[in-house]
Amino acid sequence: MDIYQTLTTRRTIRLFDSRPIDKEIMEQIVNAGRLAPSAGNRQILEFVIVQEPENCKRMLEQLKWAAYVQPRRTPGPEQSPKAYVIVLIRDREITWINAADAGAAMENMILTAWSQDIGSCWLASVDRDNVKKLFAIPDEYQIFGVLALGYPAEQPVAEEMKDSIQYWLDDENRLHVPKRPLQKITHYEGF
Ligand SMILES: Cc1cc2nc3c(=O)[nH]c(=O)nc-3n(C[C@H](O)[C@H](O)[C@H](O)COP(=O)(O)O)c2cc1C
Repeated sequence: MDIYQTLTTRRTIRLFDSRPIDKEIMEQIVNAGRLAPSAGNRQILEFVIVQEPENCKRMLEQLKWAAYVQPRRTPGPEQSPKAYVIVLIRDREITWINAADAGAAMENMILTAWSQDIGSCWLASVDRDNVKKLFAIPDEYQIFGVLALGYPAEQPVAEEMKDSIQYWLDDENRLHVPKRPLQKITHYEGF
């Protein structure tokens, strides 16, 4: 897959099959996060890889999935993520510039995973206090978000948005993700 194909076919995945992810692949994914652009090259990010089944179980309880779909598209034990990356910001607060660094790292990781047929979900709905305690994260670090990973057990589809931004499930339980049309959001030589 070339990079454009990787990023245009990428979808958020919330249901996963039973295959584990190799440790080396996890390290490659985090390495892609490490090498992301960084404002002033401050490199304020650190990463916690979680793969042990018991830890994955604990993490799953701290996350909220797919708010627009009711009941939420929450993976059950059979289809749960097989690994997580906790993205940490080494700073007192999450400023917009810190968040920009973390967002770039997240996307690098997501695309590196997808290029190897691994799906992921970027989660901001995280019980940060619990995750800090469960994974012994020092006070001086902030949790930016969590990336959940695994081999996909669903095939969401992107479509041109008509009236709503809300993703939805069809009769076959397939997730549809409306995207605003290019012509509606692109301006040439001025607004
Ligand atoms: C900053 C950010 C936070 C997100 N937080 C969550 C979340 O807490 N739970 C969830 O299920 N999905 C979360 N997502 C995934 C979005 O719902 C998803 O990207 C969006 O619906 C578009 O679908 P797509 O990624 O397939 O294009 C988040 C995405 C981003 C960029």
